[in-house]
Amino acid sequence: RGKRAFIAGVADDNGYGWAIAKSLAAAGAEILVGTWVPALNIFETSLRRGKFDESRMLPDGSLMEITKVYPLDAVYDCPEDVPKDVKTNKRYSGSSKWTVKEVAESVQQDFGTIDILVHSLANGPEVSKPLLETSRYGYLAAISASSYSFVSLLKHFLPIMNPGGATISLTYIASEKIIPGYGGGMSSAKSALESDTRVLAFEAGRKHNIRVNTISAGPLRSRAAKAIGFIDMMIDYSLENAPLQKELTAEEVGNAAAFLASPLASAITGAVVYVDNGLNAMGVGV
Ligand code: NAI
Repeated sequence: RGKRAFIAGVADDNGYGWAIAKSLAAAGAEILVGTWVPALNIFETSLRRGKFDESRMLPDGSLMEITKVYPLDAVYDCPEDVPKDVKTNKRYSGSSKWTVKEVAESVQQDFGTIDILVHSLANGPEVSKPLLETSRYGYLAAISASSYSFVSLLKHFLPIMNPGGATISLTYIASEKIIPGYGGGMSSAKSALESDTRVLAFEAGRKHNIRVNTISAGPLRSRAAKAIGFIDMMIDYSLENAPLQKELTAEEVGNAAAFLASPLASAITGAVVYVDNGLNAMGVGV
């Protein structure tokens, strides 16, 4: 039987989530995605109109099929958590059942079980502010959207994950080294995500035989990264200083994710795996 993957955080064809979906599809997995509610309309319209057809192309010439797109807002666990102004917001009221618990229930109803869970989402409303200027609200919002969202996804999807399955999230080196410009508590959120990767690997491994890993990815010009504002500088810095002097492609991260999700990685859990042309290993730039 082919594997089934749910990838949270796909809203266009530029980010890591899309590339991971493609690599998993190329390896034979069935693809379900979770798309942020405010981005749902444009994503589905673009898909339908063929705007992504070129980037849906797999190595064998076929086009990646996305079996189903679920609206998702990973900062809300259940309907009771959703504030009134969000519920009645035009961008949200057109969709339903988009809290984490409800999405897991819908996936279970539609498909029964999954094998692979991917978390490829982050949000920090104050990311462009230094930590010293970050508000409590901004800091907690970054942690909620970028770290707890993974805890919540795992918690709600674990009961419908087949034993032997795998989960993957995306992190960034700013969790462990100073990267000026990655602010708003996003560096803190990535530290939490990496620490949680270890603790959750233990809990999900013992309880359900599920592996939990995170990929520390190098810089990519995604929609989210462009919003931070320093992505071109980071790409140039990597080109100049990393052991491998080439631009990192999303596909390279997708392929590493496909490996980590596969039986080839059956003894790897609780790990932070660098897919960054080796930049993390440098002490000084030369
Ligand atoms: P992206 O823009 O393709 O992906 C981020 C996704 O998160 C978007 O689709 C957005 O709609 C979604 N999202 C935001 N808030 C959400 C919420 N509350 N509920 C559900 N979805 C929500 O950008 P990218 O860069 O591919 O990001 C994917 C992951 O990769 C993130 O965790 C990011 O921190 C990580 N990463 C990115 C790097 C880069 O240079 N682009 C480097 C290292 C890690």
